[in-house]
Amino acid sequence: MAPAEPITTANTSTAARERRDILVTSALPYANGPIHIGHLVEYIQTDIWARFQKLRGHNCWYVCADDAHGTPIMLKARAEGITPEALIARVADEHKADFADFRIGFDNYHSTHSDENRDCATLIYARNRDKGHIRARSIEQAFDPVEQMFLPDRFIKGECPKCGASDQYGDNCEVCGASYSPAELKHPRSAVSGAVPRLRESEHLFFRLADFEPMLKAWTRGGGLQEQVVNKLDEWFDAGLKEWDISRDAPYFGFEIPDHPGKFFYVWLDAPIGYMASFKHLCESERGRAAGLELDTFWGKDSRAELYHFIGKDIIYFHALFWPAMLHGADFRTPTAIFAHGFLTVDGQKMSKSRGTFIKARTYLDHLNPEYLRYYFAAKLGPGVDDIDLSLDDFQARVNADLVGKVVNIASRTASFITKRFDGQLAAELPEPALFDAFVAGGRGIADAYERREFSRAVREIMALADRANQYIDEQEPWVLAKQAGQDAKLQGICTQGLNLFRLLIGWLKPILPGTAAAAERFLQIEPLTWADLSQPLVDREIAKFKPLMTRIEPRQVEAMLQASKEDLASPSADAPGWAGGQISGQGGGEAAAGADHLAKDLIAKDPIAETIDFDAFAKLDLRIARIARAAPVEGADKLLQLTLDLGGESRSVFAGIRQAYDPADLEGRLTVMVANLAPRKMRFGVSEGMVLAAGPGGKEIFILSPDAGAEPGMKVR
Ligand code: 2FM
Ligand code: ZN
Repeated sequence: MAPAEPITTANTSTAARERRDILVTSALPYANGPIHIGHLVEYIQTDIWARFQKLRGHNCWYVCADDAHGTPIMLKARAEGITPEALIARVADEHKADFADFRIGFDNYHSTHSDENRDCATLIYARNRDKGHIRARSIEQAFDPVEQMFLPDRFIKGECPKCGASDQYGDNCEVCGASYSPAELKHPRSAVSGAVPRLRESEHLFFRLADFEPMLKAWTRGGGLQEQVVNKLDEWFDAGLKEWDISRDAPYFGFEIPDHPGKFFYVWLDAPIGYMASFKHLCESERGRAAGLELDTFWGKDSRAELYHFIGKDIIYFHALFWPAMLHGADFRTPTAIFAHGFLTVDGQKMSKSRGTFIKARTYLDHLNPEYLRYYFAAKLGPGVDDIDLSLDDFQARVNADLVGKVVNIASRTASFITKRFDGQLAAELPEPALFDAFVAGGRGIADAYERREFSRAVREIMALADRANQYIDEQEPWVLAKQAGQDAKLQGICTQGLNLFRLLIGWLKPILPGTAAAAERFLQIEPLTWADLSQPLVDREIAKFKPLMTRIEPRQVEAMLQASKEDLASPSADAPGWAGGQISGQGGGEAAAGADHLAKDLIAKDPIAETIDFDAFAKLDLRIARIARAAPVEGADKLLQLTLDLGGESRSVFAGIRQAYDPADLEGRLTVMVANLAPRKMRFGVSEGMVLAAGPGGKEIFILSPDAGAEPGMKVR
């Protein structure tokens, strides 16, 4: 590894230095749930930093991808009755739209379920294996006898062995905080089928992390990690580096391991490799080829490029131990630095669905301008791993006071005079060049703050200069001069000066507010600003008529967003946690656990022995005999059949998850029992108007209830 410059020392005179090759990544979101504001802390932080580097003229590339493999994704697709491929394609489209609308400027957004990732993962695995860093051995694991699958820890629930709390996960108790192994859990149940898990032996592949201890110790002390992260790593070194299980048994949604049929790479093995795969995909794109991008320049052993991963603090173990070790073992370069951030709280508390503060990116966008949140997060973000709080009152007050009240106000106080009195023409020179120069000098500290990821300092310094610009206008009182005869030249000069100060502020805010900066560039009729452009004033030229660049946040917008978030509760996808706000994919996470929680709840609820119901509830069920008039497969859903049911004069369309058990042709003409008064349910493929009753553990073993001869369609079942 050879970083072009020490990352702990900010580069404050970049213009004089060589153009740096920089590759930046954000953690890959799981492809089983929506992006929420907790996730956005990281994407906004990374995007600001990448945009800053680009603005400075560096050869900076920002890539990401969906994290598409693992048990939760497999099970979620199954619960929806669609293929994992169909699920991840849909979620990828949603993620990309959310990111684009938040102006996250990825240069490439790919998927871990891609040819590039399969190639890179296979290569990294094979090289490590050939050097003896991977060993096979048999282990015993919990196995679901009904679903015929091994269960990740998060998919086993039972009573906590320490405090007895019920409904706790197989790895730790949310009530008393105890950690334990799934074998210690009392009365364990599979969260998938509700069955009692059994222990079963299977051969697994292990990555021998301890082989890399000297290399990792040197790497972690090389200046590329935050102090808190180094301290955490020291604890892990002291505890001893344990070997890492990188394989999973079928059924699993992932890449089959080439020399171990029936075994798959664990999702966390190929997830970080997704960074490399996304970059490879970019290199092979038209844009990448035009830019002369090559994988080796950024990932080769002797690369002089800088490689930075922005991540949440809960996934440090994967990024600061496994990932550099795997790369090193496969003769690739290691990251220059890992930048970990903290979690997001809203009004001082964990995001909460009932308070409406579990806010999806899309729900935010339906009500508020993305630039507001980008600004607020920037104003709160520092280079450390501290949590940040979104205080909704402070959010409104700060955006309104700083952006609308200070920055945009400078332009609105001066531009109208230029338009009305001088045909849009700026003065030929600045009346106060020293003031302009003082501002330009202030830009150096701002650049230094951005480089060090001290965004809150950058914002503070920019706002201090915005105050100074407003003070200048207050002192010059252009509105007074405008009423006096013979003051035209002075008025034009003051307004030109004000607009030049505004241009500097917008240039510095451009990494944070790319949309507002683009609107300001159109208003000033200038080419997209770069950092270097800012030292020259804008004089003797025409500008466009001023239109308000940003409006105030109204309290009703925030209230409407919170209300809509509460309503989102009804949607199961709202349950998928991320690494900020959800915070469940910690080190050694057994299985990528995001989404496991709601799946577990959904699936346990389907356990045959349910809680009792009273007779009135039972009496409400309208069970009828139905004849299956037609049965047809559903495109894109390998578990579903669409049944047309004849209820003796009335026809119903019902989607039933029995495709693996029956050939559609065998069903036509048969009688079954259906719940006839179930409210119609909108599914992806259409509306289901009832439910067919069937029994059995699942898969091929599902049996529809066949009534005796004599039963007629439409008959009530008693
Ligand atoms: O914790 C998570 O949400 C993971 N999907 C992050 C993966 S980052 C990288 F390793 F791919
Ligand atoms: Zn407990």
